[in-house]
Amino acid sequence: MATKSLLVTGGAGFIGTNFIRHILATRPNWHMVNLDALTYAGNLANFQDLATNLANRHRFIHGDIRDESLLALLFAEESFDTVVHFAAESHVDRSIMGPEAFLKTNVEGTFRLLKASLKSWEEKGRPESFRFLHISTDEVYGSLGSEGCFTESTPYDPSSPYSASKAASDHFVRAYFRTYGLPTIITNCSNNFGPYQFPEKLIPLMILNIMEEKVLPVYGDGKHVRDWLYVIDHCDGLVRVLEEGRPGETYNIGGGAERQNIEVVQLLCRLLDLRLDRSGSKASRNLIKFVTDRPGHDRRYAIDASKIKGELGWSPAHEFEEALAATVDWYLANMDWVEMVRSGEYRKWIEINYGDR
Ligand code: NAD
Ligand code: DAU
Repeated sequence: MATKSLLVTGGAGFIGTNFIRHILATRPNWHMVNLDALTYAGNLANFQDLATNLANRHRFIHGDIRDESLLALLFAEESFDTVVHFAAESHVDRSIMGPEAFLKTNVEGTFRLLKASLKSWEEKGRPESFRFLHISTDEVYGSLGSEGCFTESTPYDPSSPYSASKAASDHFVRAYFRTYGLPTIITNCSNNFGPYQFPEKLIPLMILNIMEEKVLPVYGDGKHVRDWLYVIDHCDGLVRVLEEGRPGETYNIGGGAERQNIEVVQLLCRLLDLRLDRSGSKASRNLIKFVTDRPGHDRRYAIDASKIKGELGWSPAHEFEEALAATVDWYLANMDWVEMVRSGEYRKWIEINYGDR
């Protein structure tokens, strides 16, 4: 199997962690440097349990993707042939309350990384095998009505500061391919769920609130639709793109599992009630509360994944309800991890975001 040297940015976050663990388990000749600023969303404890032989293939560097001298040093030291760019501010609600960090990390950070990658690629004689994989989101396409799906040619129409910053970063990545020839690829993915997701996002937040018998805050009428994908299936799709994807292309990745938010919350209530032996007046659905809607809240996302299916033979291996049950079980079994990531900063966020809803 081919050897690869990867720079993974944001590898201590939710998807990055799952990606690194997936590579360690499935690609024995790939070595990774994980560059992460360890914001509230990044957690090194995610790798604590790795056996030494696996840990040796993963070098962690604490740093910011905007730090040009650090990037230059890393590219010189490690001679990367692949960059997998996850690092971002990723939470829509936080982008509404504080958009600037999204501009800095998602736009400026991506630009600095492209600049460092291009310099190194040119110094090495522009190898064709180099890849810069930019992990982006379906939110750049804006909102769908009740019909249709996002394809790779859907026009960009972002609604939140988060999706606007991701759209801007996508444009820079595409421009670096068209203008300088840097072999970039963009993936636009739908909502992920699974182990190690920070409990500010819908699924882990609801799991923990159900466990702790707290209110379950559903925004607006709860009929907004997301297209859910188990994070391991996303990671598998990214590996296919790295191994067989064509430079300059975009690939949409989605789970084909459209659900209204209220359906997801009700299902989580049922899954946890079974495990916590709750029913009748104690049933968790009694905790659901419809609260003020998110401003600019996109109504529906759905991905047409036929390009990645047709070209690269990828499709999700996990069924939504089963993967959701596995995720519930992971959180129940990993409450130590949950306590570790719920810092003072986390508690402050919960108070600010949900305080007056
Ligand atoms: P996350 O918030 O869990 O993790 C982000 C990571 O980036 C954290 O470890 C954080 O410490 C790090 N980081 C933030 N700013 C940094 C900086 N300036 N320098 C270095 N590291 C920095 O995010 P996630 O959910 O794992 O998402 C990863 C990527 O995938 C993001 O680019 C996101 O836009 C994209 N994406 C996420 C989803 C999803 O459903 N979670 C879906 C599609 C695309
Ligand atoms: O679509 C991909 C995107 O999915 C990624 O690019 C983002 O990084 C990721 O955070 C996610 O964005 P969403 O805004 O869709 O995810 P979130 O988990 O915040 O919300 C999912 C849906 O649930 C959304 O319609 C808002 C709603 N919601 C969310 C929270 C946190 C609630 O009703 N109540 C809540 O408390």
